[in-house]
Amino acid sequence: MKFDGKSVLVTGASRGIGKATAQAFLDAGARVAVNGRSEASVNTALASLTGAENAVPAPGDVATAKGCEQVVQQALDQLGGIDVLVNNAGVFARATVEDTDEAVWDYVLDANLKGTFFCTRAALPALKEARGSVVNVASESGLNGYAESSAYCASKGAVVNLTRALAIEFAPLVRVNCVCPGAIETDMARAAFALDGDQDAGIAHQKTKYPVQRIGTSEEVAVAILYLASDHAGFVNGVALPMEGGATAGG
Ligand SMILES: NC(=O)c1ccc[n+]([C@@H]2O[C@H](COP(=O)([O-])OP(=O)(O)OC[C@H]3O[C@@H](n4cnc5c(N)ncnc54)[C@H](O)[C@@H]3O)[C@@H](O)[C@H]2O)c1
Repeated sequence: MKFDGKSVLVTGASRGIGKATAQAFLDAGARVAVNGRSEASVNTALASLTGAENAVPAPGDVATAKGCEQVVQQALDQLGGIDVLVNNAGVFARATVEDTDEAVWDYVLDANLKGTFFCTRAALPALKEARGSVVNVASESGLNGYAESSAYCASKGAVVNLTRALAIEFAPLVRVNCVCPGAIETDMARAAFALDGDQDAGIAHQKTKYPVQRIGTSEEVAVAILYLASDHAGFVNGVALPMEGGATAGG
C-alpha cells in the first residue's frame, strides 16, 4: 500500500498500536503528524521512528473538544492538509460498576469516544477537501461485553456505531471505518490483563482465550488500518473489522 504525498494524523501515537501505525504510514511514503498527550512523549516517539524526517509533532490531550481542535490544527499547520485521520488514542480502566464513579466514566468516555468524535469533527473540512478517510480504533470490547470494564465496553461499542453514522453522513466524500482488535501486546494490555500484578502471567492467560492461541501485534493492527485508509478499500465504508483471532466468530 502506497501513501506517497498523503498527510496522516495518528492520535495516541507515542507508543503501542498508534506508534506502529505511524511507522507503517511513514514506511508507505506518507507524512505523519504524531499525537500523544505530552510533548515529551511525542518527541521520544519521533526520535525512535524510522523516516522521522517525514513526521511532525502534534501533542495534546484529545479528551476535550478544544484539545482535539488544537491537535488537528497543529497537523494542518505542518502538513497543509489531512488525507487520513486515525483516531487511535484511548485508555482502559478495569473497574466493577460499583467502582465506576463519574470520574472513571468520564476518563474513559472522554478519551475514547469524545476524542474520536471531536478530532473527526475538527478534521472534517480538510478530510472533505482531500476526499480522505477516517479509521477509528474500536475494540473487540465494542462487539462483546466483558465484566469489570463497562465504561470501556460502552465507549468502544459507541465508537463502532459512531463509525457507521459518520460513514453514512460523510459519504460519498469521506470514508469512515473502524478496526476491532482483540488483545494486542502493548503497555495498555500488559497492565489491563495482569493477574495479581503479574503482567507476563496475564499475557500468557490471554493467549489461551483466543481460538488462534495467541494475541495480536501492533503491526498487525497497523496493516489493517492502512488497508482501510487506502484506495484498495475504496468500496469499504462503515465497517467494523474484527481482528481477534476468531474470538467473536462463535464457539
Ligand atoms: N492493546 C489492546 O489489547 C487493545 C485492544 C483493542 C483496542 N485497543 C485500542 O487501541 C488503542 C491503542 O491502544 P494501545 O494498546 O496501543 O494503548 P497504549 O496505552 O499503549 O497507547 C495509547 C496511546 O494513546 C495515548 N492517549 C491516551 N489518552 C490520550 C489522550 N487523552 N490524548 C492524547 N493521547 C492519548 C497515549 O499517550 C498512548 O500514546 C486504544 O484506543 C485502545 O483502546 C487496544
